[in-house]
Amino acid sequence: MRIVFLGPPGSGKGTQAQILAQKVGIPQISTGDLLREAVEQNTLVGRKAKEYMEKGALVPDEIVVGLVRDKLSQETAFILDGFPRTVQQAESLDEVLQQLGVSLDAVINIEIPLEAAVERLSGRLTCSECNSIYHVKYNPPAQKGVCDTCGGDLYQRSDDTEKAITHRFDVYKKQTQPVIQYYKERKKLVNVDGNRTIEEIATDIEELVST
Ligand code: AP5
Repeated sequence: MRIVFLGPPGSGKGTQAQILAQKVGIPQISTGDLLREAVEQNTLVGRKAKEYMEKGALVPDEIVVGLVRDKLSQETAFILDGFPRTVQQAESLDEVLQQLGVSLDAVINIEIPLEAAVERLSGRLTCSECNSIYHVKYNPPAQKGVCDTCGGDLYQRSDDTEKAITHRFDVYKKQTQPVIQYYKERKKLVNVDGNRTIEEIATDIEELVST
């Protein structure tokens, strides 16, 4: 199975990619998580990516494509979360997949009104150890501030400020929305209504990928 999750910030890509990855037992590759790890570890990539991420801008294509290329060469099945985000990244992904002799099964586009996404992002909590995603109201942990999965500390992402969220939406509209058309033309796109509960959407997605 080779799947891509698309959607605006806060649409629930990460949440659904984690649920599906666990259900079907294949790796979730999140470019946001990979980049945050690189920043945390202060690697060369992390130092280059940091200022873009803090502003809510996209990290340059060549950096992100390099990260994904390395990961994909180690996997035969995967769920991509947050990549591709530009048409150039989508073209690069096609090239990498062609070199590996495989293709995408589906691109799942989670659709959500922007106001709902902002509310979700302002209440998001993320595990500092395993990257599990929570929400203070919609998906709270059993114990405040502690991850249900691994016991790690939960934190609020530094790009979930009002200013960075607003900028991420502008970037999404200008640079990522054309990717939807790219996959529509290639008959890979499946739209999913993201304005429902986490469980309802997960059930829908599981059905979609099993047909
Ligand atoms: P990234 O980490 O990918 O951030 P994003 O795209 O802004 O998406 P989010 O992680 O904010 O949202 P999500 O859709 O995953 O929602 P989630 O499941 O967490 O990227 C961060 C940065 O890294 C970028 O700004 C950029 O700088 C850089 N970057 C990453 N990839 C890049 C690339 N390819 N190219 C260039 N730069 C790149 O859910 C959000 C909240 O809502 C959570 O609290 C969750 O519990 C809750 N929730 C989820 N679903 C529901 C539901 N159905 N009902 C109620 N609440 C829900």
